[in-house]
Amino acid sequence: MFAESTLADTAHLRCGSAPNEGRERPSARLGGMENRNEPAATRLERARRLSVAPMMDWTDRHCRYFHRLLAPTALLYTEMVTAPAVVHGDRGRLLGFDAAEHPVALQLGGSEPAELAEATRVGAGYGYDEINLNVGCPSDRVQSGRFGACLMREPSLVADCIAAMREASAVPVTVKCRIGVDEQDEYAALAEFVDRVRATGCDTFVVHARKAWLQGLSPKENREVPPLNYERVYRLKRELPQLTVVINGGISSVADVREHLSHVDGVMLGRTAYHEPYRLAELEAELYGTPLPDRDDVMGRLRPYVEAHLARGDRLQHITRHVLGLYQGLPGARAFRRVLSEEAHRADAGWDVVERALAARRGEWRHAA
Ligand SMILES: Cc1cc2nc3c(=O)[nH]c(=O)nc-3n(C[C@H](O)[C@H](O)[C@H](O)COP(=O)(O)O)c2cc1C
Repeated sequence: MFAESTLADTAHLRCGSAPNEGRERPSARLGGMENRNEPAATRLERARRLSVAPMMDWTDRHCRYFHRLLAPTALLYTEMVTAPAVVHGDRGRLLGFDAAEHPVALQLGGSEPAELAEATRVGAGYGYDEINLNVGCPSDRVQSGRFGACLMREPSLVADCIAAMREASAVPVTVKCRIGVDEQDEYAALAEFVDRVRATGCDTFVVHARKAWLQGLSPKENREVPPLNYERVYRLKRELPQLTVVINGGISSVADVREHLSHVDGVMLGRTAYHEPYRLAELEAELYGTPLPDRDDVMGRLRPYVEAHLARGDRLQHITRHVLGLYQGLPGARAFRRVLSEEAHRADAGWDVVERALAARRGEWRHAA
């Protein structure tokens, strides 16, 4: 069950505050699933069976809050935040999140061990349940900063980074990587990378099951063009069963997830989770036995959060852009999307816009019936 008081009581919103910054992490902070007897490590391990991928511009705090309403147990990832931004930037804006988002992992980008260590310390102080290093993003901007997927070529440097991050805090440090880059076409390249990194004590690897081409393909193409090779990720788990291996890339249905979980420890969904968020509720039900929520109830439970953020000056659209796919596949989905797309961007847009979107959906639905 949700910690209803946490979700409904928006007066406490930890917006831009750093309740624990500079202090050691509190023990087992509970959001989402309220089970005070479950140790944080056990809870994280359970959560890891289903996670929502880090996605720039998409998995911001509002998106994560919404996803949490659908998937009370799953592990949610932030967008990638660069270590220099964490160290030198506006931490409240970059790192602030709501307690209901737990368990939530902060993804960092970087390749400078001391800076990553400092960013890890700061992230742990904010209460993140895991710190993840991005070794999978292939964009030019990222490569010029020498981080992301190009680090697949530099396992020793990644190992130094991870060692420094682990040293900086007691929060679990994990890696999200590809199966290779460019000409790295053999299992050996992935195995060598993982071997070097796991020697630091890091035991959790999220593997996007396709390689990345560092030249010539856009980041979007790099999520579509190189073929998926799930077998290579399964092999990693077979050969190193002591590791926690999470598979990512092209996973969408409940049947897909069931199949993957017979080979590895967890699945991570990206685009499907974003475009068809109710899939998260279905997977949550499948994996954890959580009752399926009613979509309209989910919207109702989002309301206090939306109103609290509007009262602080946030725009409605910044939250509702993440919910457009909630009714995907159902009659009325288009009307719901249309009203939100047309009206939520206005400066004075309030909850009444959402009510209109829900009414339009019901109208279209009735009309279709
Ligand atoms: C819009 C968008 C932004 C992304 N940003 C990140 C990111 O910040 N860090 C990262 O590791 N991967 C990022 N990715 C890649 C996803 O985490 C994931 O690995 C990829 O989409 C494959 O999973 P999928 O097929 O389930 O979408 C992004 C993907 C998308 C679509």
